[in-house]
Amino acid sequence: MLGLLRRRYLDVLGSIYIYNEHRGYTAIDRVLDAVRARSPDDLELIQAIERHRADERTHYMMFRRWFERQNRLPLAVDRTFGHIDRFIEIVFRKRIDDLDTQAVIDDDRLFEKLCRVIALTERRGYRQVEILLKHPLVKGDPVLMKIFQIIRQDEPSHWAPYEGWLREHGRREPKWWERRIDTFIHSELLFLKLPFLFFNPFTRRRSGWADGGEAAPVRPRPTS
Ligand SMILES: [Fe+2]
Ligand SMILES: [Fe+2]
Repeated sequence: MLGLLRRRYLDVLGSIYIYNEHRGYTAIDRVLDAVRARSPDDLELIQAIERHRADERTHYMMFRRWFERQNRLPLAVDRTFGHIDRFIEIVFRKRIDDLDTQAVIDDDRLFEKLCRVIALTERRGYRQVEILLKHPLVKGDPVLMKIFQIIRQDEPSHWAPYEGWLREHGRREPKWWERRIDTFIHSELLFLKLPFLFFNPFTRRRSGWADGGEAAPVRPRPTS
């Protein structure tokens, strides 16, 4: 019985994580479009965001392999389980996919807002992973532990470029109300949505991988 509950908990946790990793790198594609158009000469920033995107894609792949090893697909969770989705919806009153990239390119105030939302989300991710690494149920799964250790290592380099941009451009740090939104989204996920998913036996699994339609990465060929 205990084993079953543990399996269910990790299944729910992994499903929420894999959704967020996929949402993470697909949302960063929008940010990259905006940054490349806003400041094409700021190669340092562009490269830092490209590395961020690559890391989130790697995180996604780690969870995908974790599920593949168990011979199953993740539970079908949608954007209501996405931290960044909720954050953008509350702050911008729009879904990520409906965010007007051109407006973010043209308006510094929108871009700085976006930087704060991403930085807060990444810092939240770091704190959450620290908690999970001490969680007895997670500790029983060595592969999952390895995945969370890698995420913990990567996370600080994820908020750095956005906080760096805010500092260098004399923009303010997140205010109490932005931190309050972050806490609210996290509590909602932890105390409401996660238990709902855990106890809901009718949640179906995905019918395919979220990155199914994406092109495989092009690997450089050896020169000799
Ligand atoms: Fe990640
Ligand atoms: Fe991250």
